[in-house]
Amino acid sequence: MAFAKLLLCFLFKLVPLLFVLHHGASAHGLKVGFYAKTCPRAEAVVKEIMVETLKVAPSLAGPLNRLHFHDCFVRGCEGSVLLNSPTGQAEKNAAPNSGLRGFQIIDKVKTALEKECPGVVSCADILAIVARDSVVAMSGPYWEVETGRRDGRVSNITEALQNLLSPLSNITVLKAGFARRGLSVKDLVVLSGGHTIGTSRCSAFGNRLYNFTGKGDTDPTLDPEYIEQLKLKCKTGDQNSHVEMDPGSFKIFDVNYYTLISKRRGLFQSDAALLDDAETRAYVLSHANTYGTSSFFKDFRVSMVNMGKIGALTGTEGEVRKVCTKKFVVDHLVRQIRYSEDGTVIKQKYFEDPGGTTFQSCEPHLREPNSIARYKPFEVLGSNVKSV
Ligand code: HEM
Repeated sequence: MAFAKLLLCFLFKLVPLLFVLHHGASAHGLKVGFYAKTCPRAEAVVKEIMVETLKVAPSLAGPLNRLHFHDCFVRGCEGSVLLNSPTGQAEKNAAPNSGLRGFQIIDKVKTALEKECPGVVSCADILAIVARDSVVAMSGPYWEVETGRRDGRVSNITEALQNLLSPLSNITVLKAGFARRGLSVKDLVVLSGGHTIGTSRCSAFGNRLYNFTGKGDTDPTLDPEYIEQLKLKCKTGDQNSHVEMDPGSFKIFDVNYYTLISKRRGLFQSDAALLDDAETRAYVLSHANTYGTSSFFKDFRVSMVNMGKIGALTGTEGEVRKVCTKKFVVDHLVRQIRYSEDGTVIKQKYFEDPGGTTFQSCEPHLREPNSIARYKPFEVLGSNVKSV
């Protein structure tokens, strides 16, 4: 009996894992026009808000595009980057996510969509549509966004730390990071082109200007003239000033990123690293100085769709949140009652127990979705605290 329970427990943990690994970037169930019947105006509503927002704040296009990438690379494209944690333990609390912006626009879109068709459009899909619309608004390519993603219920700071790629990454790490998500070397070089819009804080590349190997030196792979220009914007130790990643056209989605890389003016080590692999280098060089004539737009459309498939939850997996920062169904809710000496209840506290691992052993029946609250007894924690 105990063995059977253990086996069940093991299977419950293993099957979803195998599912994610097996499916990688080829999530089933996503399709163009997923909301055609259930919320026909979904994309129109997003577009209205995006046009209105970017008209007054075009500098939000970069951040709004980046949110989808940061969502997809941690647990897949399932909206986990949007979840809040009362204890500061969510993905958005991780250092690599500290520069993320635009959450309030996602909330605004979600509120509008909840009015239009309550409980239908997932936050993960909103991120994917917003990412496309932010590129279009900056004169970039349009692509049909596959939808039908559902929202996850877990967001974990450690996973963000482990899964987001550092701007210090070399080409081997970048290729491995993309391959792990079912993305190709071509996807890597094409999606890096997303850096044609937006800005970066000095903290992401300051080491290249002042202390590259710990000896007060500069990065020899970065154009020395460019280093001098960058130093004017990022003084020693400045972490927070913003620099345009594609100077002069950071509000225009164009192919200029590759021209910069070819001139050794890629801002991050991860940008410069694209010259260190035969395939990525060939792509960079063949797109440098091509202006409107390159295949970059066509490639970007394809690679964004590829990225949008990573670990997507579909069908009955996950949920559709009502508010993007909050889980709708709490996975495991644990109740703790504090009694006085005479046995009367002083206080009840509710804890979320992500994955049900803190207060219980793995019990599959408690993992069923679609129930708002599940209660599980747990051990007495202190002198006058009793289990329920
Ligand atoms: C290949 C690995 C990548 C690395 C290491 C990387 C790293 C970074 C870093 C360090 C920043 C500046 C962040 C800050 O100042 O807080 C940034 C900004 C940005 N990234 Fe990436 N990135 C990568 C891939 C991508 C991809 C695939 C996309 C989208 C398709 C993307 C879109 C952007 C955008 C739009 C910004 C500007 C954000 C803003 O204006 O606030 N990046 N990236």
